[in-house]
Order: sequence, then C-alpha cells, then structure tokens
Amino acid sequence: MKRMTIKVPKIDLEKLNKERYEKNSKNKNNLSYWFSMIKDCGFKVPETHIIPINFELFKWLTSDNYSDEMIDRFNDFIISELKKNNFNTERTLFLKTGTFSDKFTFKNCKLTDINRIGYQFLQIFYSGILVGANNTNELVVREFIKSDPHIKTIYDGMPLNTEFRVFYDFDKDEVMGVFNYWDRKTMIDSLGEYAISEKKVEEFKNFRDTIPVIEKEFEDCKDFVVKEVEEKMKNVDLNGQWSIDLMKIGNDFYLIDMAMAKDSYYYDKIIKQTGKINRTKDFTGLTENIKNLITELDMTENEFLKILDHLTVSDIDKLSYDHGDIFRERDIESLFDYMYSDSSEENVNNNKIYTEEEMRAILEKSGYIIPMDNGGLYFIYRKI
Ligand SMILES: Nc1ncnc2c1ncn2[C@@H]1O[C@H](COP(=O)(O)OP(=O)(O)O)[C@@H](O)[C@H]1O
Ligand SMILES: [Mg+2]
Repeated sequence: MKRMTIKVPKIDLEKLNKERYEKNSKNKNNLSYWFSMIKDCGFKVPETHIIPINFELFKWLTSDNYSDEMIDRFNDFIISELKKNNFNTERTLFLKTGTFSDKFTFKNCKLTDINRIGYQFLQIFYSGILVGANNTNELVVREFIKSDPHIKTIYDGMPLNTEFRVFYDFDKDEVMGVFNYWDRKTMIDSLGEYAISEKKVEEFKNFRDTIPVIEKEFEDCKDFVVKEVEEKMKNVDLNGQWSIDLMKIGNDFYLIDMAMAKDSYYYDKIIKQTGKINRTKDFTGLTENIKNLITELDMTENEFLKILDHLTVSDIDKLSYDHGDIFRERDIESLFDYMYSDSSEENVNNNKIYTEEEMRAILEKSGYIIPMDNGGLYFIYRKI
C-alpha cells in the first residue's frame, strides 16, 4: 500500500489539560475524598500525608518533558511540604498518586531514599498516564507498613500478604461480597505472561509457593473480615457502592485502599455472584452511537465504561479507546497509522491537511471516534 503523509493539526492542549484537571478534582476515587471519611473508623490505617498538585505542576507532570533541573525542583518541593507538616521522612515510605501506585513496578512506590522521592513520584505519575490513571491531582505519601520479612514478593518487591477486597454498599449498610485479592486464576493467567515477557520466573514461583497459604488465611478470616467491615462502616458517611481493600499483617487488618465499586477489579464477579446489581439500561448522557454500540455488544453501561477505562491505544485488536479529553497528537498519529495499515484509504486523502473539525468528522464517520453528549470523545478502534 502506498504510504501517505498527514499533517496533524494543533490541538488546544492547554484547554484539554484544564478540563482534565477540573474533572480530576471531582473524582471520588481520590484518596483525599474517602480517606478523611474512614481514617477514624476503627481499622488501622498507615500514617498518610496528601500533597495537592496545582495546575502548573499538573501540566508539567503530564508534559512528557522532564529536565533534571525540574525533577530536582519537584523533589525539593515534596520534601519541603513533608517537613512543613512534620511528616517523618526518616523511614521507609509508600508513594502513590490519589488513585494509583504503579504497584506492578513496586520499586517505584516503595521509597527507601528520600532524595529519590521526586524521581519516583514522576515514574508513578507517568506510568499512570500510560494506563489511563491520570485522573487525580494528588500525591500521597504514606508510612510503609512492614511485612514479615519471610513473605515472598512479586512485581519487584511487593510482599504477597493476604489481602481482602470487600464490596460494601453504604446506602444499604451491607457487604456485597468479599474476594481474595490474589485470585488464583486471574493471577496465573496474567502473571504467566508477565513472568515470561519480563523474565520474572522467580516471581511466578513465589506466587505458586505462597498462594496456598494465602488461600487458607483468606478462607479462615473472611467471615471475621465481613463482620468487622459491617461493624466499622455503619457510621461512615459515604454513599453508594465501594470496594474496600484490607491487608492482613500479623493479626492486624490495615485498610489501605478504596475505590468506587464500579471502578474496581472483581466488580464483575459481584454482578455474576449476587445478581444484586441491575443491568442498568439507563444510558442517560450517552449519544445514540454509543447506545447502539453497547446494545450491539450486549453490555451494561458500566461494563462498557469499564472497558474504556482499562484499555489503551495499543490494544488495537480488541475494542480499544482513548478518552478524547486526554488525547494527544501522538495518539492521533497512531490512530492514522492504524487506519493506513487497515487500508481504510477512502478515509484519507493524499497529503491533505485536515482541520480538527474535518478530522473528527472523518473519524466519526468511520466509527473510530464517538462523541459523548458531555463533550468528551472516545476513540473506538475497530477492525474493518
Ligand atoms: N502503606 C503501605 N505500606 C506497605 N504496602 C502497601 C501500603 N499501601 C499499599 N501497599 C501495598 O501496595 C499495593 C497497592 O497499593 P494501593 O494503595 O492499593 O494502590 P493501587 O491504588 O494502585 O491499587 C497494596 O495492595 C498493598 O499490597
Ligand atoms: Mg489497590
């Protein structure tokens, strides 16, 4: 096929960034939102300090353009914020953004040298962008909860502690389900690939050796955990359905993470297991295009949005997407590359320079991009 060149029009990144930033501050999954509600509920929590990211810093973090000097300044800023708040930095710390830890590269979120805090935060933030978790304006510094040193690790240092994911409905004050965070089948499926591609066979063995212990502990404790959650969440002032992650360390249970249920892994199991969640067919706010697509795929709106939240531009063989409000020039370029390789020649004219409007119209027509009523855009890559 003949190679064609396309000039991609400038996109108003400042405006897109601003919209993204404003949306992020309303995200209920932000640690600042739920942590203040549960920190005194009775479960142990790690000592935690949250540093808000202002818009200038946000733009820099998402800029993909990091000089050593700027990283040093970022580092100094974080350290001074911690000092100002008397947060003890003379210990191992756990780092994450308001929603994302990059735990699959655990050496990024475990901090043993305070002078690397800026660099490691940048790594986490950048990984977050790549997996579509650029949905927060917060940096979170926590006390690192120590595990028994005999516990084996995966993902470059993450201890294989027994962890419980409890789904809780704050409107009905009841537990909807509890899952072993380390689900054997899920893990074997994903870890197998990871172990091979990343040459981490040792980690696969660690998992294999530890999972029987975890499964036993999970079964032994899960009724107790459910009772504890019901007892302690009764008076917490949150609404809706959430996942609550508890990590067992010795005889203690630490509440380490929460997220809205619909955004949490294993939520699909809740749907299957309890049937308590209606397959909502209320597609308010979605365009006809999206509604038709969802119906065609026989999915609920939540399932569909969840897919959009988990796939990235590289998953082009599956249904794949990128949020319009974070799309960048290189995404558009890769989209066009993909279209060429798919010989959708009728959609592109030789050397034509498109305006943004024209380009959107082409993409919309081809079914690659679908506008939402709220002004956002989704790219949908489909083999045609
Ligand atoms: N303060 C902490 N100290 C030690 N390990 C932690 C701490 N917080 C989380 N972890 C470990 O890291 C994992 C990921 O942390 P989490 O806060 O849940 O991030 P994410 O939002 O990316 O899932 C947890 O499942 C737990 O094993
Ligand atoms: Mg988590």
